[in-house]
Amino acid sequence: MRVRVLKTAEAGRGLRPLAVLVHENDINDVALPSDPRSAPGAAVRRWMRRTNFNGEPLSFAHVLDGERDVLLIGAGPRAALDPARVRRIGGRLAVESRRLGLRALDIRLPAIAAPHARALTTGLAEGAYTLRLNARAGRAPALTDVRLLLDPPFAASPLAREADRGAMIGAAINSIRDIANRPGNEAPPRVIAREARALARRCGLGCTVWDRRRLEAERCRALLAVAAGSREDPCLIHLRYPGRNRRLRPLVVIGKTITFDTGGLSLKPGKGMEWMKFDKSGGMATLAFMALVGTVLKPNRPVIGILAAAENMPGSAATRPGDVVQSRNGKTIEIVNTDAEGRLVLADALDVALAYKPAGLIDLATLTGAANVALGRPYSAILANHAPLRESLQAAGEASGDRVWPLPLHPDYRALLKSPFADLKNIGDGSAGTVIGGLFLETFVPPEMPWAHIDLTSAWEERATSHGPAGATIFGAALLTQWVDSGGLEALAT
Ligand code: BES
Ligand code: MN
Ligand code: ZN
Repeated sequence: MRVRVLKTAEAGRGLRPLAVLVHENDINDVALPSDPRSAPGAAVRRWMRRTNFNGEPLSFAHVLDGERDVLLIGAGPRAALDPARVRRIGGRLAVESRRLGLRALDIRLPAIAAPHARALTTGLAEGAYTLRLNARAGRAPALTDVRLLLDPPFAASPLAREADRGAMIGAAINSIRDIANRPGNEAPPRVIAREARALARRCGLGCTVWDRRRLEAERCRALLAVAAGSREDPCLIHLRYPGRNRRLRPLVVIGKTITFDTGGLSLKPGKGMEWMKFDKSGGMATLAFMALVGTVLKPNRPVIGILAAAENMPGSAATRPGDVVQSRNGKTIEIVNTDAEGRLVLADALDVALAYKPAGLIDLATLTGAANVALGRPYSAILANHAPLRESLQAAGEASGDRVWPLPLHPDYRALLKSPFADLKNIGDGSAGTVIGGLFLETFVPPEMPWAHIDLTSAWEERATSHGPAGATIFGAALLTQWVDSGGLEALAT
């Protein structure tokens, strides 16, 4: 998708399809196009008066103004316009453009929406994505040529950079969606490793994959315990961006990459289990972020991405409830429930991350269903041992539309992880599930190491929405990219 930014006055008088953002109950104040053959926007104004289109968030209408396609999109109340909403507006415009067979679109940006150029183009790219249902089928044509038209006083050039960024974030998300949407049988850990290697080559990153033998040699027994019931070997994938200043300590991002989560012997109920092909979502967001680090962000500080990949299956060699394993850092874990597997693979991955002597750690994981119970889709959960890191990620969440909300990592919950048989067990008593998941991970991070854990709630859509396709969302990639662009890496102390 090509995106250009220009002043409305420079847009010319062509009949390119035009999208207009309409604020709720503001329809008399809409900046409408001028058509050379009619009074400016007369047909659209007449249409708006006749119907009850009132600019409610994400409401949509297609009107012909003379021969020009006009797409009216509801932006909600002016004061409530935020990046998350703008991103979905972009998504809906792309979805509707496809439906109408439009390849080119002008979008008239009212002043209030101009600061959201990045969110808009991210959403446009995301909404233009379609699943490929079989390898030979092409993809339905989508928007390829977008122009953002700015009213004074906005200058095009600073916004053009933001709009470009958004399009590149959306492109990275879409390219990883092609991997993330594969079902469990088509994307076992070895396939993820192959894709990570290919991505590393394309994006100028280093890539090392620890196979089963190396994981054994490295004593990653918590990770190996998760994979024990599967025919598919687990692996730990390291992606390395060297940084323009190699002497700085790296940021390490760790993604839970369970290619399918049956629950293991603590088997999940059948209903809805198919969605557990998306239990690799943390790793997929890490891949998309690393692609952007290597090709777009190119920061001074080194950045390492680690994917802890395994398939959680019941099998004759599977880990049993009650089994005790020693994790890489020496702590013993009683695996009371084999369905709490994400924290096991992350425990070892966090310990491996420490070997990079990081300045900070961020993990992304579909760790608990309880995060969704607590927050639903609008916010993912964030738990961190470092307030500035948590707050900067929250701010980047609001700015990118990938929003995160804090839950407490308070030591008062720690007693729930006590085991009579090991240093800790992998579940609590069922209460505070997301907090317990975070506290479990925290025991593998030194207290002085800035670390944030993001428990994902909207990593996939079960069906197509008004603003995007069914399947993986790659939640987290836009968040971390925004965080880097907002100075997150520079703010890390060492
Ligand atoms: N991958 C799941 C969590 C999950 C389930 C995320 C559904 C999103 C949607 C995770 O491995 C899991 O099974 N967690 C358990 C933890 C419990 C056993 C303490 C859960 O949430 O039930
Ligand atoms: Mn599980
Ligand atoms: Zn899981």
